[in-house]
Amino acid sequence: MNIKLENISKNFNKRLIIEGVDLQVDFGKLVHIIGSNGSGKSTIFKIICKIIEPDSGSIEFSDQTQLGALIENPSFMEDMSLKKNLQFLGGIKKQFDEEKVIRLTERLGLDYDSKVKVGKYSVGMRQKMGIIQAIMEDQNLILLDEPTRGLDKAALAELKRLIEELIAENKTIIIASHDNLSELNFDEQYLLEEGRLQLN
Ligand SMILES: Nc1ncnc2c1ncn2[C@@H]1O[C@H](COP(=O)(O)OP(=O)(O)O)[C@@H](O)[C@H]1O
Ligand SMILES: [Mg+2]
Repeated sequence: MNIKLENISKNFNKRLIIEGVDLQVDFGKLVHIIGSNGSGKSTIFKIICKIIEPDSGSIEFSDQTQLGALIENPSFMEDMSLKKNLQFLGGIKKQFDEEKVIRLTERLGLDYDSKVKVGKYSVGMRQKMGIIQAIMEDQNLILLDEPTRGLDKAALAELKRLIEELIAENKTIIIASHDNLSELNFDEQYLLEEGRLQLN
């Protein structure tokens, strides 16, 4: 088991957003959480990342877990280049494999050496950067929140290949989206509705 959520609940301003959510995901699984806008998908991811605290419930990670996440609109150092941003993010944990990061940026159609400040990047380009930082340090539990947002066809196809490679390396990926992403082969699909998460 890579991650286990038990009976997670969360209120915002006395409104119950997440109610008794259980989720257990094994290594190497590709899992999908589908829910409409505002159903609480990002909230669940933020709880897993400890950005927000649940009102109740518990989360357990396996010892080897290294968490990577793309959540909502990723924020970057807006007046810096892509390279500076990724070097900075990779430097935090001293796990920066620059060759690997260059390969990832090329695959997703970004220019690693571009001088353009990321504040000038489009939604899709920022999304690609967000995907790169979520996987570039060999993270083995990867959360991708609406990862296809703003991506063109070529980038979508590349993302699909990347996901398949990561799963083949026994990494765990949880994707949240409002659409059904039928191009991906999920091992498990859950529906998030009225705060409750149910196997679909
Ligand atoms: N920090 C917050 N304070 C108050 N309400 C919030 C907060 N974050 C999210 N919400 C509300 O919780 C609900 C679920 O939001 P979210 O998890 O972002 O949904 P999704 O990602 O599925 O679109 C929404 O109604 C949203 O307005
Ligand atoms: Mg969201």
